[in-house]
Amino acid sequence: MSQIVLGVGGGVAAYKSALLLRALTEAGHDVRVVPTASALRFVGAATFEALSGNPVSTEVWDDVPEVAHVRIGQTADLVLVNPATADLLARAAAGRADDLLTATLLTAHCPVVFVPAMHTEMWLHPATQDNVATLRRRGSIVLPPAVGRLTGPDSGPGRLPEPADVAALAELVLTTGAGALRQDLTGRRVVITAGGTREALDPVRFLGNRSSGMQGWALARVAAARGAEVVLVAANVDQPAPFGSRVVPVESAEELRTAVQAESGQGADVVVMAAAVADFRPAAVAGSKLKKGAASEPSSIELVRNPDVLVELVGSRPPGQLVVGFAAETGDAEGDVLTHARAKLARKGADLLVVNDVSAGRVFGRAENEVTVLGADGTTTPVPAGRKDAVASAVWDVIGARLTPQG
Ligand code: CTP
Repeated sequence: MSQIVLGVGGGVAAYKSALLLRALTEAGHDVRVVPTASALRFVGAATFEALSGNPVSTEVWDDVPEVAHVRIGQTADLVLVNPATADLLARAAAGRADDLLTATLLTAHCPVVFVPAMHTEMWLHPATQDNVATLRRRGSIVLPPAVGRLTGPDSGPGRLPEPADVAALAELVLTTGAGALRQDLTGRRVVITAGGTREALDPVRFLGNRSSGMQGWALARVAAARGAEVVLVAANVDQPAPFGSRVVPVESAEELRTAVQAESGQGADVVVMAAAVADFRPAAVAGSKLKKGAASEPSSIELVRNPDVLVELVGSRPPGQLVVGFAAETGDAEGDVLTHARAKLARKGADLLVVNDVSAGRVFGRAENEVTVLGADGTTTPVPAGRKDAVASAVWDVIGARLTPQG
């Protein structure tokens, strides 16, 4: 259990902080909500008190003997400001201490994460951008805002990320430290495939696999939080789009191939093939449902090979583009997991291969993962078991170190 200060700024998006609070307390954390006075015009103190089980105050003048403005910041493991309005970012950048939240920001020794939400013009204004740069230079994390529907009918950058994404990123910072969300992927374009393809047999049946897509989701969420522009080619994953990602839904290996080739051809710096792509598809797809007892009742399914999308990408990539494969492997009489994986990396020609040991039913559908990242340059980077966001962050560390410097 960690001590979290949830700072809430005065914007309409403050309503989402109640759901974030709920997610953080359900994860077992002790959360102290510190709203600004204007935040309480959007969400009442009673809501935050009931959901957190802790008192809520906005001013340093409340509960003076407790010296809350010093103690809350000093004892926190994480300060999470959600939403961070333009005004709050400005006050934090200026080092003001005119309410309990800004005073807390000045006394915090722990990681501080600002989750901005404001109108696009306010976010893009040089004053706000300067304040963001100042806060980042001093070591705070300022997440890029999500792009999407704003308060009114308009849309653009400035939307608050969804509570589930913020909670996952908060957990990542608590377990891995502030470095997990450094802005090292700013200006990078990444294409990630996730999920498992489905190969049709007839209009209602398919051959599929057990991939949940959650590791790809985590890779997308963390890349976006680290500043990348993310395209997520998603094969049959029934989940809301992760923070910062444009999702291109696909079903079959062929659709995935078409989508990933189109997206990676538009200046992608990295393509990460985390999807479980079917190696085979039925040789024929019945135009109508296959029926028992009918003359056309099949006694077997003939399969044909699908193209290897990863190998094709490696063969056609522009200079400087990194191609990363994933492999779920088991050891056998011919060799252990890493021996098989090294051979696969060489066969496929990718720059990196992220290897999962799936012996004895491990990994599929689980929140935790444990991988080894193999480099074509002979490097081996073990990533300890952890939540999929922590694994994603470690994978981006390895990828980030190999990206060609930006011009
Ligand atoms: N892959 C792909 N196209 C395929 C099959 C796999 O792009 N038709 C990619 C996967 O997305 C993954 C990597 O190749 O990044 C390794 O997948 P895996 O299924 O382990 O590779 P295979 O070549 O199918 O190896 P195996 O013979 O062990 O099944």
